[in-house]
Amino acid sequence: PKLVVIDLAGEEKEIEAGVGRTVMEVIRDAGFDDMLALCGGCCSCATCHVHIDPAFAAKLPAISADEDDLLDSSDHRDGNSRLSCQLPVTEELDGLRVTLAKPD
Ligand code: FES
Repeated sequence: PKLVVIDLAGEEKEIEAGVGRTVMEVIRDAGFDDMLALCGGCCSCATCHVHIDPAFAAKLPAISADEDDLLDSSDHRDGNSRLSCQLPVTEELDGLRVTLAKPD
């Protein structure tokens, strides 16, 4: 599947995402310096915060209590906020637009 990533400067880039990885990993490995992902994906840092195209919300796993708490610590949370390390890449996500959230 292909994802469209929008960085903090508003630049859009299409990347190829491998099924079985997480959205955080594919964005980080595509060289986006804005994707800090400081905890490496163990749901404890919130620096992988992204805003997801709402059309894809139903194709994503539900938000866990831990993810919800971490997102609450961000000033930039909105109704489309997710932690990208908690989102496995699936074929269904082809065409997903992901906007990197402003850092807190
Ligand atoms: Fe730390 Fe996602 S990488 S919470």
